[in-house]
Amino acid sequence: MADDWRNGGFGLYVHWPFCEAKCPYCDFNSHVSINIDQKQWLDAYLSELKRSATETPERVLNTIFFGGGTPSLMAPETVAAVIDAARSLWRPANDMEITLEANPGSVEAGRFAGYRDAGVNRISMGIQAMNDEDLRRLGRIHSVAEARAAFDIARSCFDRVSFDLIYARQYQTLEDWRAELTEALSMAIDHLSLYQLTIEAGTAFGDRYSVGKLRGLPEDDSAADMYLATQEICEAHGMPAYEVSNHAVPGAESRHNLIYWRYGDYVGIGPGAHGRITVDGQRIATETHLAPTAWLKATARGNGEKLRTPLTAEEQANEYLMMCLRLTKGLDIDRYCRLAGRSLPQTKLDYLQEIGMITQQENRLAATADGRAVLNAVIRELLE
Ligand SMILES: C[S@@+](CC[C@H](N)C(=O)[O-])C[C@H]1O[C@@H](n2cnc3c(N)ncnc32)[C@H](O)[C@@H]1O
Ligand code: SF4
Repeated sequence: MADDWRNGGFGLYVHWPFCEAKCPYCDFNSHVSINIDQKQWLDAYLSELKRSATETPERVLNTIFFGGGTPSLMAPETVAAVIDAARSLWRPANDMEITLEANPGSVEAGRFAGYRDAGVNRISMGIQAMNDEDLRRLGRIHSVAEARAAFDIARSCFDRVSFDLIYARQYQTLEDWRAELTEALSMAIDHLSLYQLTIEAGTAFGDRYSVGKLRGLPEDDSAADMYLATQEICEAHGMPAYEVSNHAVPGAESRHNLIYWRYGDYVGIGPGAHGRITVDGQRIATETHLAPTAWLKATARGNGEKLRTPLTAEEQANEYLMMCLRLTKGLDIDRYCRLAGRSLPQTKLDYLQEIGMITQQENRLAATADGRAVLNAVIRELLE
C-alpha cells in the first residue's frame, strides 16, 4: 500500500489567489488586491517548492497546474521561474503537462505568448456563458466578443485550450442551454468543463439566495435535465464526459485533474492549497494557510503549511472511492479492497445497480450518467 500513489501519478498545484474582480457565485480562495509584489510571491513559491521537494525527492513530475484565482494575472517571468524550479527539483516527465487557468480578458491574452515561452502547454479559460446578458448577471467583466478573441489568441499559442461554462443559470431554459452548448462545441478544440451553477454559502449569490432575491434559478428537475442533455450533446459531438463535469476527445483529458481523481500524489503550494503526498509509505493530507498574507508570513518563516494529517487506511479508501467514482471509467475494485482491507457491501452494490445508478464490470465499479447526476447520494449510500 505504501506505493499506492503510483497508481495515480504525481503532480504539482500552484495556487494564485488574486482576481481583478470577485464574481458573485465564486467561493474559491480569491481576493482583489491592487498591490501584488510578484517578487515576494515568487520567493515564497520557490521556498515552498524546495521544502516540498525535500520530502518527495526523485519523483517523476507528470503535471503542473496553476490555478486560482486568476493565474493569468501572474507575470510570465514568475510562471517561468516556478516551472524552472519544479523541473530542477523533481524529475520532469518527458511529456509534462503544464496548465494555467486564464480569464478571457484582452490583458491576459497579451500574456499568452509569454506563458508559452515559460513552458505552459495547456490553457484552461473561464468563459462561463456565451451571451453578454448572462455574463453580466454572473458578474463577469468580459464580453463574449472579448472571450472569443482571447480564445483565438490562446489557440494560436497552444495546442491544448479548454474552456469552462456554467449552466443552470438564472432564467436559463433547457432549450437555451442546448443551443448554447452546441455553439460552444463548434468552437471547442478537445476539452470542455461544464459546471452546474452551485449557490455557495458566503458568496454574494449565497446571500441573495438566502433572502429569496436570486430569482429565475431552474428547479432541481430542470437542472438535472440540463445535466443529462449535456452528456448526450457532448457525446454526439465526440467529446464524451470522462468525469462528472469534464468532457474531452479521448486522449485529451486533463492529466493533472486525473491525478486527483485517480488518487495519485500531488503537492499543493500557495494560499489554501491542498496536497496529498506519500512520505515514507504514509499518505498525508496537507493544507496551507488560507489568507494570502498569513501564507506569505508563514513561508517567510520557512513553512506555509497549516495542517498535516496522516490518513488512515479507511480514510484513504473512502477518499479513493469519492474521487474515482467521479470518473466515467469508475474505480478499480481491487485497489479499493487493498486500501480498505475489505470489500464494498454487496447488498448496497446490488441495490444501486438495480436502480440504475452504478455498473460493475469485472474489476471496475462505475456510476452511470444518472448516478453521476446524483453522485453525492450514491457515495453516501456506499459509505454509510
Ligand atoms: C477557480 S475558477 C478559475 C477560473 C478563472 N478565474 C475564471 O473565472 O475564468 C474555475 C471554474 O470554476 C467554475 N465555478 C466557480 N464557482 C462556481 C460555482 N459557484 N458554480 C459553478 N461553477 C463554478 C467556473 O466555471 C470557473 O471557471
Ligand atoms: S470565478 Fe474566477 S475570476 Fe471569478 S472570482 Fe472566482 S476565481 Fe476569480
